[in-house]
Amino acid sequence: MATTSADREQWGSRLGFILAAAGSAIGLGNIWRFPYVTAENGGGAFVVVYLACIALICLPYLFAELALGRNSQKNPVGAIAAIKSGTPWVLVGGLCVLTGVCILSYYGVVAGWALGYIFKGFVAPGVDSAAYFGSFVSDAGTVIPLAAVFMVITILVVYGGVEEGIERWAKVLMPVLLVLMLVVIFRAVTLPGAGEGLEFYLNPDFSKIDGTVILAALGQAFFSLSLGMGAMITYGSYLPKRENLLVSGGYVALFDTAIALLAGLMIFPALFAMGKQPESGGPALIFQVLPEVFETMPLGSFISMVFFILLSIAALTSMVSLLEVVVSYFVDETTWSRSKSVLLVGGFTFLLGLPSALANGGSTFLTEQISLFGATGFFSIMDFIWGNISLALGALLISVFVGWVWGTGQAIEELQQGAGDTFTGAFASTWAVFLKYVCPVVIATILGGIVFGVI
Ligand code: PFF
Repeated sequence: MATTSADREQWGSRLGFILAAAGSAIGLGNIWRFPYVTAENGGGAFVVVYLACIALICLPYLFAELALGRNSQKNPVGAIAAIKSGTPWVLVGGLCVLTGVCILSYYGVVAGWALGYIFKGFVAPGVDSAAYFGSFVSDAGTVIPLAAVFMVITILVVYGGVEEGIERWAKVLMPVLLVLMLVVIFRAVTLPGAGEGLEFYLNPDFSKIDGTVILAALGQAFFSLSLGMGAMITYGSYLPKRENLLVSGGYVALFDTAIALLAGLMIFPALFAMGKQPESGGPALIFQVLPEVFETMPLGSFISMVFFILLSIAALTSMVSLLEVVVSYFVDETTWSRSKSVLLVGGFTFLLGLPSALANGGSTFLTEQISLFGATGFFSIMDFIWGNISLALGALLISVFVGWVWGTGQAIEELQQGAGDTFTGAFASTWAVFLKYVCPVVIATILGGIVFGVI
């Protein structure tokens, strides 16, 4: 039975929503992906472009997703169909659902690594961290069961539903993660030689900015804020009308950006203190650097354990939102029940993740022998297509849809509910200009540059 808006679940409280949406946003994207993408793209200059993308593109766009979701009370496909049914626009909703499945498939593999690292400090103290990581991720007998365990936990949480499942966990665990990160930063910046890392991270060398850096920054900004694939449409759909979407959305963007920047402060000082090259890490970066930092700390094995538990939980709240997008589509649009949708989608996505699990040394073919658009290996190709291109494309299409098809007038009306007088006049019209012109033009230019090989 399709769910009607009358019996649709809602978040239990405003804080609950902010923390759940921040829980979706804050995840491996901030702590695992942001540092290595920053390292590969020139450090400080990348950070500046990334912050510009957040402020000028992602924030205005985030409000559009939230407004569309709350207005329609639907998943991405249903939300678009509620405004323009029977048109090709519905395919954009389909792209969101597909992107959700594909990102979830490889994201779950990395989440499994985090889970596996919980006991690293105890089982392999003092072992060279690069060598340990290499043999750990290439062992199919380890990474596949870990990814499976992670998917089962995600399925259980999503099965529990919005308020009971997602909100309850996010509320407690996000603040604890922040505190632990501050402890690790304190250690990292006090390591001898840390200054050079701070320099690389915080002192931009603008000559390093080129098209690749800009695309990487834009993709990272969308990925980190869970934008471009309808996660915020779906989470917005569980919000009541009294909620101020601008304030809540603003907090989510602020927390997410703060955590990413803090993750960089954990990694770069330590990386340089160890005399390593920033570009060399790739997806292995945090798994190689952090264990060595922990080893220099009193109670290091214990701190390492707590850190990887919290990282796993941050990954879990993001995985939950990825799965929730797809599940809400099946619950709203088909006759499938929540339990059937959760089980089938979760099971299918796990299977889809198997090649990614094997693409870090498990299979030579999947690791080294395939490449596309400069990305080598199945895992990197998936991340490039779905985590960069598809999110940017989804955001381009959704911003055009909200700005031009639904119309900024309607969207502004939706945003005013809960925000009232604060969202009128110049503020609202500036937002409309960003959504209608700035977002689509900038994203289309960057994507076009990639497709036509100009950048
Ligand atoms: N924002 C998440 C992270 O930074 O880890 C990843 C993510 C979750 C991307 C949900 C997209 C999404 F819809």
